[in-house]
Amino acid sequence: FGQGLIFGLGTVIVMCMSALEVQAGTQSVGDFVFINAMLMQLSVPLNFIGFIYREIRQGLTDIEHMFDLLDVPQEIVDKPDAGPLKVSAGKVEFRDVHFSYDSNRKILKGVSFEVPAGKTVAIVGPSGAGKSTISRLLFRFYDVQRGQVLIDGQDIRDVTQESLRAVLGMVPQDTVLFNDTIAYNIRYGRIGASEEEVRKAAELAQIGPFIEKLPDGYRSMVGERGLKLSGGEKQRVAIARTILKAPPILMLDEATSALDTQTEQEIQAALDLVSKGRTTLVIAHRLSTVISADEIIVLKDGQIAERGTHAALLRQQGLYASMWDRQREATEAEERLRIARESDEFGVIVRRRTSEVS
Ligand SMILES: Nc1ncnc2c1ncn2[C@@H]1O[C@H](COP(=O)(O)OP(=O)(O)OP(=O)(O)O)[C@@H](O)[C@H]1O
Ligand SMILES: [Mg+2]
Repeated sequence: FGQGLIFGLGTVIVMCMSALEVQAGTQSVGDFVFINAMLMQLSVPLNFIGFIYREIRQGLTDIEHMFDLLDVPQEIVDKPDAGPLKVSAGKVEFRDVHFSYDSNRKILKGVSFEVPAGKTVAIVGPSGAGKSTISRLLFRFYDVQRGQVLIDGQDIRDVTQESLRAVLGMVPQDTVLFNDTIAYNIRYGRIGASEEEVRKAAELAQIGPFIEKLPDGYRSMVGERGLKLSGGEKQRVAIARTILKAPPILMLDEATSALDTQTEQEIQAALDLVSKGRTTLVIAHRLSTVISADEIIVLKDGQIAERGTHAALLRQQGLYASMWDRQREATEAEERLRIARESDEFGVIVRRRTSEVS
């Protein structure tokens, strides 16, 4: 701004001086035009120098940040003799896992379960029970303090992180998108995928029609961390990404939590298709999405409180059964309200409620 101001003012002064000279007859109009052209030719390269200077300064600052980042010691490092993970069937096993983020607060206290190859196991439980922690341990974002996490009998601490993460696909609770196009964000699942494959994955994740309606289509920018998309849209981009990656082991952390019931059902169908024949670990709040799981694990305070199939757990009349009842009541109330809103009774109900309150 200062540079522009100085140059603008300078030009005005010099042109005024030249104009006065022309008036006095000491300069010709040709001189006036000549001075003007000179100044214009000077201003462009001078501006450019200012621009380059700023860019270089910014670049140096960024490099400094980058080296600071590179200096951060890695908490999880591969063992020197770590080999690649060999996946045959894709069985996942947690064996007596103990874990805490801070040493004074235990999060998982001896969790053991197994996801047989090709089967689906669901983890449910109250918020803060440690469900997402289990997914982070499977990805080895943290190391367990006691016990083991095994894939096809191999401890994940004995294999390279790269090979481990290559076989895992995850739809996380809070999807992180890159500030790039939608197509790029979907293709991130498998960088080499063709345009057609990206389109197909988006179609399967029920986000294709939405993208096509955008003015720039697949080239639309999603904004920093994906802030230009709604929560449900972000989730569907993450699902498309995972469909594209097609990993042997799938981890869904509340993959459909931000969606309305209608879209959820459609995506659930797509997810069922993707998880068919794949080892799948599902974390869910809405129990209706895990009814068909081969086993349901109820996690509470870092321990497994109950386990079994949906029907068996209902018969037990324990924690799961009470969670199920509460959710069913909530869904039924929601459904009644929706029906009432659609038929014209809504006003009647509201009036009745209002009179009850008063
Ligand atoms: N990085 C972290 N550092 C310290 N504590 C953490 C960290 N991440 C999670 N926690 C704590 O660990 C506990 C379990 O977190 P987790 O994310 O596994 O819960 P969750 O079962 O997935 O809950 P929700 O259903 O709300 O997603 C929480 O009490 C949380 O406060
Ligand atoms: Mg969670």
